[in-house]
Amino acid sequence: MSELTELILDRIRDVPDYPKPGVLFKDITPLLADPVAMAAVVDALAGLSQVDKIVGIEARGFILAAPVAYRAAAGFVPVRKKGKLPAETLKESYDLEYGSATIEVHRDAFTPGDRVLIVDDVLATGGTAKATVELVERAGAEVVGIAVLMELAFLKGRERLPGVELHSLVIV
Ligand code: PRP
Ligand code: MG
Repeated sequence: MSELTELILDRIRDVPDYPKPGVLFKDITPLLADPVAMAAVVDALAGLSQVDKIVGIEARGFILAAPVAYRAAAGFVPVRKKGKLPAETLKESYDLEYGSATIEVHRDAFTPGDRVLIVDDVLATGGTAKATVELVERAGAEVVGIAVLMELAFLKGRERLPGVELHSLVIV
């Protein structure tokens, strides 16, 4: 196991029965609270590809994506939940276990052809990431990859993202 993998796995806390009975929640807050681990994660994500913009997905994705953008000397673009962005937006909806969710990006968030890395904390079913790829492409930018701190392999999100470069710092 690499030093970075160990640093991350040691600081992810399993919380049983959250948000509902039978679910084992992977809590990243101990990692966020550790400055050495947090810096190592941000540096690793920022070193993945040369890009113009880092896209962060509300809410937990913002925590990682903003420092990654700073470290990579790239711009930061928020993808937000419906109704939070003030100017004209593009929207994508995706299915959740019960019902659906809609996310948005500002229509003018990118310069045409911008190279973009999408950053989030967790890849689970891949629905959020897939919708974000669609949004970024519709807005005229090029998705060079998706980077997550943690991939939950048993949910097979990777299979919903064919042709997209997916970087996961840890796979559990
Ligand atoms: C969580 C997580 C990812 C997403 C992954 O976000 O932060 O963004 O789920 O799930 P998926 O791969 O099945 O789409 P959530 O929407 O729960 O909310 P938050 O980030 O606002 O806490
Ligand atoms: Mg999220």
